[in-house]
Amino acid sequence: MSKISLDEFLSMRISQRCQYFSENNRLLALVYAQQFDRPLLSNLFSLADAIRRLSDSRDGRLFLRALLADRRAMLYFTQPSTRTFLSFAAACHILGMNSSNVRDSTTSSEIKGESREDSLRIFSLYHDLIIMRQPEGGFCEQIAFQMLSWPGRKPIINAGAGMDQHPTQALLDLYTLQRCFADSGGLDHKRIMLVGDLKRGRTARSLAYLLTNYSGVELILAAPENLAMGEDIKEHLRENSTPFIETDNMQPYLSKVDAIYLTRIQDEWDQGAKTSMDYSRFGLRAEHLKSLKADCFILHPLPRRQEIETSIDADRRAVYFDQAQNGMWVRAALIAHMFAVDEKIISHR
Ligand code: CP
Repeated sequence: MSKISLDEFLSMRISQRCQYFSENNRLLALVYAQQFDRPLLSNLFSLADAIRRLSDSRDGRLFLRALLADRRAMLYFTQPSTRTFLSFAAACHILGMNSSNVRDSTTSSEIKGESREDSLRIFSLYHDLIIMRQPEGGFCEQIAFQMLSWPGRKPIINAGAGMDQHPTQALLDLYTLQRCFADSGGLDHKRIMLVGDLKRGRTARSLAYLLTNYSGVELILAAPENLAMGEDIKEHLRENSTPFIETDNMQPYLSKVDAIYLTRIQDEWDQGAKTSMDYSRFGLRAEHLKSLKADCFILHPLPRRQEIETSIDADRRAVYFDQAQNGMWVRAALIAHMFAVDEKIISHR
């Protein structure tokens, strides 16, 4: 790998930066959703299917657990998390990896003034994989770049970067959608509505990137005007010929879409006072169910507030708890891919 500076790296086009984080068709670091193409998505989903099948039997679980028993992962999560943290910890366990964590920088030597860069370099001395979530959009990208020049070139996974991206959430969202549409021709030519705070919702942003890998997918982007999807994502949709409609009223589209992906308002990013707007128009209530197609699936990255009434949980189209569990399988698949044990899993009888 050529030696370039961080500034030179950051000035490269996104397609070149994506290439920088791969070697021989294998991810060295996962930072952006744009790193996934359709063949890689397909391989990861087959791998996730194989891991979940093997996990059904004791022999299968023991086989999986031996694969990376000599490896250690570091979960560095300085933003709150339930699903991502725990599903990554479970994914590591499935593959036999030990994991350590720092979830609060006031309990690490950062409180003594150590830089996050130095902290991460130290983590990389003790571990074989870094999985990180933190509040600043570009920090994971910077560390992933630096990590490749540090001894050991340890792989790194972005588990949520500020308001920017959450690529492994998008991976599990897509895996869930693919399973939902397994008997109806797959994801191609489906109409999907993303609802809520699309401006600051990193899960919706990453999912929009991933959906451009599928032919004929149409997007409805339903958001309050001040929280509309960012221009960077819309530009990517245009470049990839993925048609989209923007609206601040989801109601007319309820009967027309194959899946609805609801998100909460990300008011942790509000400056000063919390947003006081009425967000109820961007929620699904029991009375809406009759408007939906019989096979329109309801997704949410969770956590939810009022976006989905709890009475909807019992509807067979509500798949958000399956979606959360799928995170464990796809994250195990991603780690298996990065550590090149994917072939062993696929060929295991
Ligand atoms: N969907 C998601 O990222 O959930 P957590 O914030 O609980 O990890």
